[in-house]
Amino acid sequence: MTEVAHIAVIEERIERLLEQMTLEEKVGQLTLASGGGGHIPEWLDEGIRRGRTGAVLNEVDVDTVNELQRRAVEESRLGIPLLIGRDVIHGFRTVFPIPLGQAATWNPELVERGARVAALEASRCGINWTFAPMLDIGRDPRWGRVAETFGEDPHLSSVLGAAMVRGFQGGELDADGSIAACAKHFAGYGASESGKDYNSTNIPENELRNVHLRPFKAALDAGVCSLMTSFSDLDGVPASANEFLLDQVLRREWDFDGFVVSDWDSISQLQAHGLTENDRESAYEAARAGVDMEMASTTYAHHLPQLVTEGRISEEKVDGMVRNVLRTKLRLGLFERPYVDPESFPDWGNPTYLADALETARQSIVMLRNRDETLPLKPHELSSLAVIGPMADEPYEQLGTWIFDGDPELSQTPLSAIREALHGEVEVRYERGLETTRSRTRDGFPAALDAARAADVVVLVLGEESILSGEAHCRADITLPGAQAALLDEVASLGKPVILVIMAGRALAVEALPDSVAAILYAWHPGTMGGPAISDILTGVVSPSGRLPVSLPRVGGQIPIYYAHKNTGRPPTPETFVHIDDIDPGAPQVSIGNTSFHLDVHPSPAYPFGFGLTYGDVHYRSVSCPEPRITPGSSLEVIIEVANEGQWDVEEVVQIYIRDLVGSVTRPVRELVAFRRVSLEAGEVRHLRFDIDAKELAFYGRDMKRKAEPGRFHLWVGGHAGSTLQTEFELLP
Ligand code: BGC
Repeated sequence: MTEVAHIAVIEERIERLLEQMTLEEKVGQLTLASGGGGHIPEWLDEGIRRGRTGAVLNEVDVDTVNELQRRAVEESRLGIPLLIGRDVIHGFRTVFPIPLGQAATWNPELVERGARVAALEASRCGINWTFAPMLDIGRDPRWGRVAETFGEDPHLSSVLGAAMVRGFQGGELDADGSIAACAKHFAGYGASESGKDYNSTNIPENELRNVHLRPFKAALDAGVCSLMTSFSDLDGVPASANEFLLDQVLRREWDFDGFVVSDWDSISQLQAHGLTENDRESAYEAARAGVDMEMASTTYAHHLPQLVTEGRISEEKVDGMVRNVLRTKLRLGLFERPYVDPESFPDWGNPTYLADALETARQSIVMLRNRDETLPLKPHELSSLAVIGPMADEPYEQLGTWIFDGDPELSQTPLSAIREALHGEVEVRYERGLETTRSRTRDGFPAALDAARAADVVVLVLGEESILSGEAHCRADITLPGAQAALLDEVASLGKPVILVIMAGRALAVEALPDSVAAILYAWHPGTMGGPAISDILTGVVSPSGRLPVSLPRVGGQIPIYYAHKNTGRPPTPETFVHIDDIDPGAPQVSIGNTSFHLDVHPSPAYPFGFGLTYGDVHYRSVSCPEPRITPGSSLEVIIEVANEGQWDVEEVVQIYIRDLVGSVTRPVRELVAFRRVSLEAGEVRHLRFDIDAKELAFYGRDMKRKAEPGRFHLWVGGHAGSTLQTEFELLP
């Protein structure tokens, strides 16, 4: 059957079902109930049999899921199967790095593969819908949910978000192991005030369209089945009642034909926001704006039929909402295959899945510092090594946030992996130093310092336990929690080579890390295979290749700090920047630069977006555009010469940034437009060609229309957002 014919069949089946449905049954399709616990409570049983519940979340016992489906398919009047939803965020049993860590791979193929593995494992339980990917832009590391984002950049988030959608949904949506994806949270959630979860957002429309909405559009283009609204309010209107987002942008401009689900209770919370007086008005506002399905709260179930009877919401409107839901169920092939046979899927945590999780974790680790080639370790030169820290041997904590179904028993920790790797060669001694990352008591310091003194090299594994990031787990102070900084200082003062491994759910402020630390690996929460991934990098099995998907701030007061900021009318320069310590005490009133900076911290981040070291020695030798004047329908050819002058084979993430010099609205000082992970053997020189479609230069201007504006552009290539190898080109009218 051709695609057009397939679509026609689906639309025809939707209409036939709609004709038979009562108003209550229609509203049933718009109701997502919370199940769970491996049993079917009476209210849920009744809801399903009577066609009052069209979807269930959080039930992962496969027999119970099959029984829920049986009641829907065989015992409800119209036999419509259920959507079974679950937060499968970065793996299911086999846990991959947190999304922020996956973003550090800059590798869409791996992100897609990770989502595929997660979909296959989740399918084994009958889950057919996941609440991922999260596509909020993460520019505030205080926000706990930054862990779930792909970082600060709209281009990187778009590419990786689309890859994750493809991974979950597979080539064919109705094939075994394909599950519906849900891009969330629409929209603006990442800009929650002060990095506090659920908070208000104030995003001007231009910024909203050019930054926050872009990854969602990319997910739509990748075929995402559903979207979830955000808890936050945008410009005074909560996302779950925001007609501009849900109707104007999503349906009218983007032609989305999947369905929109609210977030948990976010419709009834319209009342707490102060937008409505009661649940009935909340149901009205959400339905009117364009939320198709309600999660957890029951304002639709209780009030939508009456709102229709009263004529405040038209039945035609409800039909449209039901169509969006049924379309997804039909596309998923649920009517043909409502039940799942777990045995038809590979067992979870199998070697292939673990190998994928290992590769993703390896590529997610970012090496920030490597003084005097401390890394990789040279086991033949060592006799003893100390592994210290509260994150070194924590099978659960290394998994990160949102791991409902993750299995800590599958986890391999840094300590176990290092021991295995160095077995028989190097004596490995372990002391945790602190009970948890939050502990303030220093009782464990003496033993940790003894271990460090007795060792040739110290690997210190610090960071944040998993509970310190994720939903509602925001922090105002984003330095290392507890007494970890003191432990680090004391260990570092011993004069031994110290390798610091940071596992965290966010970008931590790293300015205060002692200079004497020889090497730093930023490992995020690396998931099940975090230990071997870290050990493989420490011992040189692979060269580090992760790149920062966020700028690492020097201090929290710099937040938000991101590379694609605007220039302002008074940008700071090395000549104008004045540090507080350099103000002449005799002349405090004279000019102190009069440009845009903080007096007490250098304006740059501690490490820029895109940054990451390798064991090689990569040089960008040249960049050129053979035809530097392009027309709107064409593309820009960019030729780059890059060489690995070092002794190690590496993978390098080649990045291209542009700046549109003059625009109808102010444009960022740099924007990522393309990137590619390439392998470079020791001594290899490569000539790379990129074709950048002129469409990539488009943005929303003063008229809120998306188009590229003619004019001059600067272009940089390199290994991070601060790279200096530059050329320029022009877009002709
Ligand atoms: C979160 C969503 C999640 C939902 C269901 C909410 O609290 O904001 O991201 O998908 O719960 O668990």
